[in-house]
Amino acid sequence: MVSANFLGVFLLMELLAGGFRFGADGLSMNYYIFNCPFVEPIVRSTVASALQSDPTLAAALVRMHFHDCWIQGCDGSILLDTTKDNTAEKDSPGNLSVRGFKLIDDVKGKLESMCPGVVSCADIIAMAAREAVSWSGGPVYDIPKGKKRMEGGLKSRTLSNLPFPTFNASQLIGVFGQRGFSAQDMVALSGAHTLGVSRCSSFKSRLSDPVDPTMDSDFSKTLARTCRGGDNAEQPFDMTRNNFDSFYFQALQRKAGVLFSDQTLYNHPKTRAIVNNYAMNQAMFFLDFQQAMVKMSLLDVKEGSKGEVRADCRKVN
Ligand SMILES: *[C@@H]1O[C@H](CO)[C@@H](O)[C@H](O)[C@H]1NC(C)=O
Ligand SMILES: *[C@@H]1O[C@H](CO)[C@@H](O)[C@H](O)[C@H]1NC(C)=O
Repeated sequence: MVSANFLGVFLLMELLAGGFRFGADGLSMNYYIFNCPFVEPIVRSTVASALQSDPTLAAALVRMHFHDCWIQGCDGSILLDTTKDNTAEKDSPGNLSVRGFKLIDDVKGKLESMCPGVVSCADIIAMAAREAVSWSGGPVYDIPKGKKRMEGGLKSRTLSNLPFPTFNASQLIGVFGQRGFSAQDMVALSGAHTLGVSRCSSFKSRLSDPVDPTMDSDFSKTLARTCRGGDNAEQPFDMTRNNFDSFYFQALQRKAGVLFSDQTLYNHPKTRAIVNNYAMNQAMFFLDFQQAMVKMSLLDVKEGSKGEVRADCRKVN
């Protein structure tokens, strides 16, 4: 049992750290401070222990957050299982092997037993992604919480309109711009590729007819070697697939970006300057990344805090 005294000190620290502000949308950094005060430590410890046994989950959690938010705003719909009249996002083509669902279930289970019906699935994804970033050595940041947005009556959506690995920098600037992200936000968010791997199927078209000339010739041999393992063979985006750092941008400078949509950031004059800055100045990358992630977590949030919290992230109530 947590002593009342400790709880008091803890709440006070949270208040001092985050202030106690609610935005016009009803979201707040401290949204759960009174009705589920230990939400942050619970998410942190559960994510940390999962990442200790499988560090590759960090990339998966960041990707899950991106996919959840990108389509129609962060609402946890990516967690829904397929039902007879609704094909889940995770089972639709283009799900890009999103994983980490069991970890989210674990977090949700712990939170439901402590404060039932309080913490939304969308917030859990956003917090888990944030923990994954800081656990991997990336920036530590806070996000506005309280997103419920119709979690009750939600349907899955197909994963459409995602930025494709074949997009060039102008196209990337365009699709991110439509969502309110600047070119700088877009390059910073692309830096999430500092974690994780790509699969051969996403870059094999760069290797033939003709070989993508924007790629270093030794690096194209590396990619070709990976692809001998088949379409699912994994290629890390940079030398440190489980560390959040600026090596991804340094790889782009060496023309060793894995996807066309990575390397293109170094080929467009506008984004090249940003890549060069981030390659040289990791602190700048971290700062811009955390700001862009907060923007991401607010994507299409209108009247964000109105709605219903799901009891099980896999099903509507
Ligand atoms: C992604 O969708 C494919 C079908 O397109 C399915 O076979 C696969 O299991 C899905 N991945 C996950 C993680 O559910
Ligand atoms: C980027 O792709 C679009 C669509 O294919 C094309 O129209 C445009 O010319 C390309 N831009 C550059 C700089 O290659």
